[in-house]
This record gives sequence, structure tokens and C-alpha cells, in this order.
Amino acid sequence: MTNWLDMDSAPGPEIRIGGRDVLYFGGTAYHALQGHPRLVQAVQEAVARYGMGTATAGTRPIGPSPVTLELERVAAEFFGCEAAIALPSGYLAMTVAIDALRESYDRVFVDERSHYAVFMALCVQQKPFVRFAHCDGEDLQRRLDFELEKGERPLIVSDGVFPTFGRVAPVDQYRRLLDPYDAQLLVDDAHGLGVLGENGRGSLEHHGVDGSRVHCVGSLAKAMGSHGGLVLGSEDFCARARKQSPVLWGTTGISVPNACAARVGLELLAEAPELRERLLARGRLLDAGLRALGLDLPDTPQPISAFSLGSATEHERVHQALLEQGILLPRSSYVGAGEEGVLRAVLCSQHSEAQVQRLLTALGQLL
Ligand SMILES: Cc1ncc(COP(=O)(O)O)c(C=O)c1O
Repeated sequence: MTNWLDMDSAPGPEIRIGGRDVLYFGGTAYHALQGHPRLVQAVQEAVARYGMGTATAGTRPIGPSPVTLELERVAAEFFGCEAAIALPSGYLAMTVAIDALRESYDRVFVDERSHYAVFMALCVQQKPFVRFAHCDGEDLQRRLDFELEKGERPLIVSDGVFPTFGRVAPVDQYRRLLDPYDAQLLVDDAHGLGVLGENGRGSLEHHGVDGSRVHCVGSLAKAMGSHGGLVLGSEDFCARARKQSPVLWGTTGISVPNACAARVGLELLAEAPELRERLLARGRLLDAGLRALGLDLPDTPQPISAFSLGSATEHERVHQALLEQGILLPRSSYVGAGEEGVLRAVLCSQHSEAQVQRLLTALGQLL
């Protein structure tokens, strides 16, 4: 049986577990907005007025709650796209997006380490899919040349940021393949949205990628401080999603508190771009310190630093020893972590340099 630790506070650089405060490096509340006072107050007011939700989102004549419509408006503006659809989870967003693209592709080419949500969406579609090597644009091109049958249109699917090691997919390389192969690109940017790119628009903005063949989904549960998902794109793409995706007719929409929290989260991020700058700077500080300890880390701007000490037993020893000192550095066996798992530190923009340094010093003494 897994021994879960109960988090008795909102996530942040410090959290309360088991009656004590610990320095927290678990993920992935990138800006710790989940407990932000403005967000909490707005949610209380929204729930007092609208309750939890309309309960009839898919049943005419009642449409989505005004709180959801406002979130969709604010999200489209923040992410610089024509339209957005809010959903009860990020997990469902990939399925909705692939439903929307149903008539635009014949065969999917998917990064082999994509998130569970991606593979679930592909299974629902029942169209053939081919895995390409992780973050490898050359392997993708080879497979397009080799596997694509005459007249077939490919859909390239990948996480924008891979959650375990924080690797950013080379979507600029993928973008270059779209015109020659008459392809579409769909990115699950659960971790990139609100973190990467000049305006926090995610891994596509980070790599300067856009265009009518490029589509994006994400989660509201990370940088935005709420819970739920987003489908982002053109008016036409979102209209097709609404028309073609059974998820949107068959699932009750995002709840009022979650929609309200996400809207406020986006407003807070828009008002304070320095949050993102600080988050990425702290990530660089941590990576440099870990490398100085001799640890091997992928080169990524995402403030996730995951590394292996060789065995699950060693990860457990270091995890427990840190916890005794009041530092929570989780072990992870998430997508791509391998059988022995990894130790994985995720930062939020509120971590101070001193807190990052405290982790490094404590780790240095244990390795
Ligand atoms: C890459 C990726 N995609 C999708 C999801 C699912 O998002 P949500 O938790 O909002 O359902 C996650 C999970 O957290 C994720 O890491």
C-alpha cells in the first residue's frame, strides 16, 4: 500500500503535512495560485451567486455558465487565439481536440513518451497510430517517409513539455514537416501553458510556432491554479470540437468554482509577468546546483529537475532523509521515469533563492 502524505494546506513553497511545515518541491502548482487570496475570494462570491454549476451544460436551451464563458474569453485573449473551450479536466482536452480534427487526418504520429491522456484519446479514435522516438524530429521524418501510405494525411501529436523530466518537445522541427506532408500538429501543453514563452503561451510560443495547422490543449490545474482543461485554437477548430466531440455533449462542463479560479489565475498571470521570469530563473539556479553535485539532468527551461540515483532504494533513502530535515522532494514513477523512478523537484515562482539553496545543501550532504 502507498503511504500518502496528506497536504494540509494549499500548495506553495512551504506546505503543511502531518502537523508540520515542510519546504515543498512537489509539482506542479507553478505559481502557487491555488491558494491566492484574490482567487479564493472570487470563487466564494461566484459559488454564492451561481452554486457549483448549471448541471445542464449539454442540454438546450441552457448553455454554459456565464463564469465558463468568461473564462473562455479570457483564456483566448491570454493565449492569443481566436477561441477557447473550457473542460472539466485537462485529460479530456486531448480527446476533444482529436475529435475536432477527425476529418483532417488519416494516421497519427505520436511521441512514444506522450502522456496517458494522449494515448487514451488515440485509442478512442480507432485510427492507426505510429510511435516516433522521444523528442526526435529526425525519427519522426523517417517514419513519415516510411509509414505514410499514398494520399494519407498525418496528425503529429506530442506533449509540449514532458511532465517527468520537463523536456520541451522540438515543435519547431515538427512545424517544418507540416506543409511538405500536409500534416496537422496537436500539442498537449499541460505544463507549458502559463510557464514558457514570452507571454506565457507555452511551448509553441517558446519555439515561435503558430499557424492554422497547429493546435493546442492544456490543463488548468497547474500554472493557472485551478482544475480543468482547455482546448485552444481558431474559431473553426473550436466550432468543430463543439459539433463533433461527444465529450462536450456527454460530460457536465467545468464547475463554477474551477472556471472562476482559472479565470482569476489567468488574470493574475497577465498582471505579473515577473512571476514567470522568477520561476524560470529559480529553475536555472536549481539545475546549475544539481549539475555541480554531479547529477545528470536534461537541458530544459521548464522548472522541473528530475534525476536518478540509480535505484528506487537510493531514491527512498534520500527522500526520507530530506523529509526528516523538513524538505519534501518527491520520488516519481510518472511517464518515462523508468522502473526505478526518479527524484523530481518542481519549483513554483514563490520559491526563494535561499530555499533552493537549502535543498541543494541538504542534497549535497546526502549524496
Ligand atoms: C502532460 C499532461 N497532460 C495532461 C494531463 C491531465 O491534466 P489534468 O490533470 O488537468 O486532467 C497531465 C496531468 O496532470 C499531464 O501531465
